[in-house]
Amino acid sequence: MRLLFLGDVVGRPGREAIVDQLPALRTKWKLDLVVINGENAAGGFGITETICDDLLNAGADVVTLGNHSFDQREALVFIDRQPRLLRPINYPARTPGRGATVVEAANGGRVLVINAMGRLFMDALDDPFAAVDKALHDCPLREVVDATIIDMHAEATSEKQGMGRYLDGRVSLVVGTHTHVPTADEQILPGGTAYQSDAGMCGDYDSILGMQPEEPVRRFVQKTPGSRLEAASGPGTLAGIAVETDDATGLALHVAAVRIGPHLSQSRPHFWE
Ligand code: FE2
Repeated sequence: MRLLFLGDVVGRPGREAIVDQLPALRTKWKLDLVVINGENAAGGFGITETICDDLLNAGADVVTLGNHSFDQREALVFIDRQPRLLRPINYPARTPGRGATVVEAANGGRVLVINAMGRLFMDALDDPFAAVDKALHDCPLREVVDATIIDMHAEATSEKQGMGRYLDGRVSLVVGTHTHVPTADEQILPGGTAYQSDAGMCGDYDSILGMQPEEPVRRFVQKTPGSRLEAASGPGTLAGIAVETDDATGLALHVAAVRIGPHLSQSRPHFWE
């Protein structure tokens, strides 16, 4: 199965990169399933129903979130009628929405997607390892689904590596999100799980984490109230990870970083081109 995961969409540059390029990539690479993290899609903070629909219509099968899940208050309502939008699975149980879903891929296979959130340097949440374990127990790879993707939305690389190693051999892909800078450690772990500590963002890399740099810099050098953070507005780059899985095992056969656009070194899945 051919899987593509794209990192945090930040503002209009990220959305436009997705809408402009994903439909053609889906065809060119014969993608079976696409997951996009959309928690920063609305000007850097949260997601609206219209934007979620735009990402799904551009070719995403599932949109994941993170600590900014409900920055746009409308998400508290529409998440319950959009089964393809996930918030972290280890949020308190009464939180609207869901943290995992099973969707049908283009090749007819079934794919479990789970959104989890780390606890180091982030909000106090339930144990993400236990929460993911329960979802995998309910929906095991090879028995119920043909591939499993975990978006581990976390600040600390160690915690993301911990999730990767904890799940190695039990899922198809563990990919980190949240830090908005792609890491160069895409690999297949010893047990067969594809892994990348952070997918990077889909957005304008002439920025600080996708935001115009002036105000973030000012906040570092001057401890005074300032203005709002605004998403950068230059051309966006797509960033994420491409994974081909073995249909018999659900584990990874090939993995490559995806970086398409200005500012970063370019990377594509050569095994599909
Ligand atoms: Fe985040």
